[in-house]
This record gives sequence, structure tokens and C-alpha cells, in this order.
Amino acid sequence: MAQGNFADGYPTKAQPVLPPESVLFGRSRGMQTLLQKAERVALVDVPVLIYGESGTGKEVLAKFIHQRSPRASAPFVKVNCPAIPAALLESELFGYEKGAFTGALGSKPGRVELAQGGTLFLDEISELELSLQAKLLQVLQDGKFCRIGGQEERHVDLRLLCATHQRLEDRIAAGAFREDLFYRINVVGLRVPPLRERLADIPAIVDYLLAAYNDRYNGKAKPLSRRILERFQAYSWPGNIRQLENLIKRYVVLGSEDAIWSELGPQPPSWPPEASRPGSIPLKGMAREAAREFERKVILEVLQAHHWNRKKAAQALNISYRSLLYKLRKATEPPAGNPAP
Ligand SMILES: Nc1ncnc2c1ncn2[C@@H]1O[C@H](COP(=O)(O)OP(=O)(O)OP(=O)(O)O)[C@@H](O)[C@H]1O
Ligand SMILES: [Mg+2]
Repeated sequence: MAQGNFADGYPTKAQPVLPPESVLFGRSRGMQTLLQKAERVALVDVPVLIYGESGTGKEVLAKFIHQRSPRASAPFVKVNCPAIPAALLESELFGYEKGAFTGALGSKPGRVELAQGGTLFLDEISELELSLQAKLLQVLQDGKFCRIGGQEERHVDLRLLCATHQRLEDRIAAGAFREDLFYRINVVGLRVPPLRERLADIPAIVDYLLAAYNDRYNGKAKPLSRRILERFQAYSWPGNIRQLENLIKRYVVLGSEDAIWSELGPQPPSWPPEASRPGSIPLKGMAREAAREFERKVILEVLQAHHWNRKKAAQALNISYRSLLYKLRKATEPPAGNPAP
């Protein structure tokens, strides 16, 4: 597969790591149709609008299209529109000249310029302000723009890919998105289906993610049980592949399927434990369970906040690394008298 230059904003020499095509697109009919369209559209220099729910893989698809395009060896520059404060977005996108505003001590190119020859990926384009939509429209019409505070008209040659999880038609109706820009960016629209429409692809995605995160976290997590894979294929996945990915990360770090069951809705049949069913109220045990559950929740949140780096999480929790490992082991042991499903 061709390689390109990728960065979360700025071009670098770092190589992209995309799942292999068989995992990325899987076997479901919807994804196979998407693969055919994506391969065809990659070769043609037209703007593409990628839409779909959060976490479905819109960014991964944008990178795939760039990799398969004649621009693959030029930069892929991403701009996450809602992540950049509105006041800064114009200078991030279009750059500025020295003295353009207080604090502009030098000049700086924007991301539009950095994408020269390559692909500009505007993520969550629906969040772009109307004034910036007008400036972007001009770039799309004739490739021309000015840096903030600059007189010189600059020219850029790029391919625009946009993504949105919101219906742009609704934003147009609300007066928040320009209709003319919509038609410019939506020459081809690609819908990425939600995970619940491609449940059969889950085992292959799980295998891939498990190997990837075992590798990244130096983990030795075993393949998941058939029972949990079946549950995965009967689940609705509101957070799509991102949610699945987080579950697998958690499984690799905590080393137990118990850590994932709780997120999948109704507990397996052995839950709740015999002793806590109506008729008997074992207060001591319940308090211990509640404390254990609370500790598990806090540990998970801190691990997540530190990108699953256990050393940093231990520091943040003000406990030793060994003590964190011990707590993780304990947190994932099945409760007494209630074997793991
Ligand atoms: N087919 C796949 N196999 C394995 N991992 C995948 C696949 N598709 C996406 N991912 C992973 O799932 C996560 C979500 O993908 P991505 O960021 O592309 O989705 P998105 O639609 O842009 O999400 P959001 O709307 O939240 O920005 C990423 O970490 C990505 O690497
Ligand atoms: Mg995204």
C-alpha cells in the first residue's frame, strides 16, 4: 500500500498505520460498496464528503483515500475544526504575516498552505464558522487565499476531504452552513455505516485490535471467548468502532473479560450474585462490592486519561506502580462466589 505523510494537523515524515484493507472494510455488503467507491474516488481529484456516526472510521477512510490517491507522497494535513478555538481557527487554517495581530512576531503558514500538493482533511466541517466557510469556498473555487494581515495572494493546489457526523442539510436549514459550500465539498458523498450494520465484521476487527494493543502495551491478553464475541455481535455499539477499540484496550490492560461485560448492557445470567437477590440483604458484602466497583471506576478513568500508561496512572493516583498492578488484578477478579461468565 502506498505510504503518505500524516500528522494530526501538520505534515511529518511519520508513516500512517492503517488497519489492513481486509479489516478496514471487512466483508459486509455496505463496506464492500464503500471500498469500491473509495478506490475509484481516490484516483480522481474531487472533493469528498465523508459522513457517518461518531467513531465509525471516517478519519481512517480519509487517510485510505489519500494513500490511494496520486497525492500519496505529499502531505495529509488534518484540521479538527471544533478542537481549535474559533478565534484561532482562521490563523491556523490560512496563516498570518508578521504584525497581523498582537503577538504575531513572525509570519506563519497555515494548514491550507502546508497541504500544498497533498490532501487537506477538514474534520467536523459543520463546525466551521460562516466567515471561514466563505474563505474556504474561495480556495475551492480558484485555489487562492491571503494570510491574515497579508497583501500577497497565494495559490495552493490541494485535494479537500471533509468529514461530518451531523447532517449538513440540517445545518443549511438552520442558516449555519453555506449551501454553495455544501455543493462544492460534496461532489462525492461517502457514508460510513455504523458498526451495528456490519456486525459480522466484528471478529476480524477484534483480532486486529487485540494484536495491535497487545503489541503497544506489551500485553499478553488471550483471544476473547466465543461467548463475549457473540455478545458483541448482538450489541448496538452506540460509540461504534471507537467504543470497541476502547473495550479492547481495557481488556488488554486489565487482562480480564469482566472489565468489558459491564459495558454491554444486561449482565450475564450469573448476575446479580445469589446472596444479593431479594430476600436477603448482605450489607457488608454489598458495601465491599460498591467500594470495589468505585475503585475500579476511578482506576479506569485515570488510566484512560493517561492513555493507558500504567506508570503515569499510578503517579496520578498517588500509589506505587506495584500497588496499581495489584489493584488492577483484584479489580478484575470475579466477585467471590460469582465466577466469571
Ligand atoms: N476497520 C477498523 N478496524 C480497526 N480499527 C478501526 C477501524 N476503523 C476505525 N478504527 C479505529 O477506530 C477509531 C475511530 O476511527 P476514526 O477516528 O476514523 O472514526 P471517526 O468516524 O472519525 O470518529 P469521530 O466521529 O469520533 O471523529 C480509531 O482509533 C481508528 O483507528
Ligand atoms: Mg473523526
